[in-house]
Amino acid sequence: VFSSENLEKSCLADRLAGLHTSAIRELFKLLGQPGLISLAGGFPDAGLLDAPGLALASQQVFETQASSALQYGATEGLPALREQLVQWLSHKQIRVQVDDLLITTGSQQALDLIGKTLINPGDVVLVEAPTFLATMACFRLYGAHLVGIPCDTDGVDVEALEAAIIQYNPKLIYLIPSFSNPSGAVCSLERRLKLLELAARYSAMWIEDDPYSDLYFDEPPPLSLFALSEQVPGSREKWLYCGSLSKILSPGLRIGYLIAPSWLQAKAVMCKQFADAHTSTLSQAIAAVYLGMGRMPSALSHMRLAYAQRAKTLVQALRQELGEAFLFMPPRGGLFVWGRWQGQETSAGWVQDSAWWNQRAIARGVAFVPGEAFFPQIPDKACLRLSFATASTEQLNQGVKRLAQALSD
Ligand SMILES: Cc1ncc(COP(=O)(O)O)c(C=O)c1O
Repeated sequence: VFSSENLEKSCLADRLAGLHTSAIRELFKLLGQPGLISLAGGFPDAGLLDAPGLALASQQVFETQASSALQYGATEGLPALREQLVQWLSHKQIRVQVDDLLITTGSQQALDLIGKTLINPGDVVLVEAPTFLATMACFRLYGAHLVGIPCDTDGVDVEALEAAIIQYNPKLIYLIPSFSNPSGAVCSLERRLKLLELAARYSAMWIEDDPYSDLYFDEPPPLSLFALSEQVPGSREKWLYCGSLSKILSPGLRIGYLIAPSWLQAKAVMCKQFADAHTSTLSQAIAAVYLGMGRMPSALSHMRLAYAQRAKTLVQALRQELGEAFLFMPPRGGLFVWGRWQGQETSAGWVQDSAWWNQRAIARGVAFVPGEAFFPQIPDKACLRLSFATASTEQLNQGVKRLAQALSD
């Protein structure tokens, strides 16, 4: 009998064994509860995206280049968008040519193309612990063995990373050095320079995933590792840079990009051809016109102010309501506060287990993401991620009050 259960068992590819939907997606199913305040999301606030600017850009696209914007396009991406991005990146001291950039369908696709082109089953990939969930899932799909390296608020622990390079001889090292998801950490300039020296010394390829660096509150983060690699001989050719317009223009456009050495870029283009032929020409044309209009800097200033204000509200509320029960570093940019319950035992169990906590918090009408899933190996169950990005002042204050109530339940 060809029951769906039998078919699933006999047909699904082995590579899917042991892979599960992300904890966050499962959590989202619970978030429909009426009145629930969600600090669990990872999205930017749609209300802060420059919709009027995108409407103008779209109108211009339809008026001036409808036939090409509605047609198939080159796998590498629309030349006009690649040119605009080259200019945009030059403001961040990233000096590249149009041909160095591959436009991808979100930076998520850049990460997938890296996995597809570089990872053999059993290859070791070193990642920060904690790190971005989707990258772990994607690399695991290609058979990667992920090894977590400890981090603090200044980013990855460089000594531990070098020890792991020596121990595991990894194929890849994956870092989110600026306002990481989930930790919000910013790798210091001093550590960035040390990382580049390691890149020059060992054979591994390095990935810099950088969707958040423009979302700083006061000071920009240090220059990207990719930009700095110009200063450290022998490091540039090891470096892959993933960028995205999702957090600063619109995630719905699905525009990301990959900068990689030409030998790898060529293979990534080939794989992209088989995956989706090219990123939406319409989205690319709109993004190119938008960037050409010069509206991005003021749209970004507006976003930074709003996120900074929300982060401040959340930080103040956490300090006031939870005090020493919750340890965290105030974020300097990005969308997240990452923190850790300080241990105490209650009759119902260990307070520091975030999943257990989340149940109680949801019962009180507030949700966060338990930190466990962000660790590749041994999870720190006391950690959690809170997003301030889409909540109002009232929701942030009320949400933290509810967390405090859950604590004293
Ligand atoms: C660290 C990190 N990398 C990559 C992505 C993927 O973004 P996108 O595919 O929308 O560019 C995200 C999205 O949340 C992220 O947090």
